[in-house]
Amino acid sequence: MSIKFEKVDYIYSPGTTMEKRGLDNVSFELADNKFIALIGHTGSGKSTLMQHFNALLKPSKGSIDIAGYHITPQTSNKNLKELRKRVSLVFQFPEAQLFENTVLEDIEFGPKNFGATEKEAKTQAFEWLSKVGLPEEIATKSPFELSGGQMRRVAIAGVMVNEPQVLCLDEPAAGLDPRSRKEMMKLFLNYQKAGHTVILVTHNMDDVAEFADDVLVMEHGQLIKHDKPENIFKDKNWLEKHYLMEPTPSRFASELANYNFAQNPLTLDQLVDGIKENLKGEFDE
Ligand SMILES: Nc1ncnc2c1ncn2[C@@H]1O[C@H](COP(=O)(O)OP(=O)(O)OP(=O)(O)O)[C@@H](O)[C@H]1O
Ligand SMILES: [Mg+2]
Repeated sequence: MSIKFEKVDYIYSPGTTMEKRGLDNVSFELADNKFIALIGHTGSGKSTLMQHFNALLKPSKGSIDIAGYHITPQTSNKNLKELRKRVSLVFQFPEAQLFENTVLEDIEFGPKNFGATEKEAKTQAFEWLSKVGLPEEIATKSPFELSGGQMRRVAIAGVMVNEPQVLCLDEPAAGLDPRSRKEMMKLFLNYQKAGHTVILVTHNMDDVAEFADDVLVMEHGQLIKHDKPENIFKDKNWLEKHYLMEPTPSRFASELANYNFAQNPLTLDQLVDGIKENLKGEFDE
């Protein structure tokens, strides 16, 4: 069952002086069980789009087909519980998503809400605590005693514990140290490979290149490109025009083309020496 957006508009505070268009005529279709990256400059509409996946925001115009639901401006807020179980969201600022007294209660909330017994909920909560890389001792702490990175992991565990069919993540790895970010990305990739759809908002083009099957590019509320990473990153002028970076390896390769090598490097050591020679002076104070 694919995900389909059809001519979706979203207007913030319509009819007021604060009126602002968040989405402008957005249409696309996504195949199941893929890893999707959602990118674009700040303020381009990524978070707005994300919140439409489980009807936290409903379109002002157009329609969305997702997980067996057809969402239109008229869709009532009732009967969306099952949709929220099938399609879950980790917000850009996940602190806002934590509200219970302890970490354990926070992660157990979803399973209990969706009908698990006390015991099942606890088992699942501990399982996901460990999957997101947190120690058991943290379970009895208040979520508000945790570091930003730990809070984020709790919020992610609290969403993944419900095993949604579609997992939407709004910059989940922003601000994490490189090793934690790698672990997180691996967790999401494994989740996708286990037969789920993952939709990731990110500013990290290396992650897009490495993980995404498909990329959605937003600008001023419009979807300006929907393609595979290799096609997205092919046109350097287009990227520059839209304030998008190339992935590091491709940037490096472009730079390498401008390097002068005193001799043609034939071994890895010679290549490294040649690169060092070219970089001489770049890192001087
Ligand atoms: N609650 C709101 N009320 C009014 N306008 C809003 C609201 N939330 C977002 N906007 C506006 O809608 C546009 C899209 O915002 P959105 O948060 O979707 O961008 P984004 O791509 O997620 O940006 P970022 O990369 O900074 O997170 C922006 O111009 C923003 O100012
Ligand atoms: Mg955002």
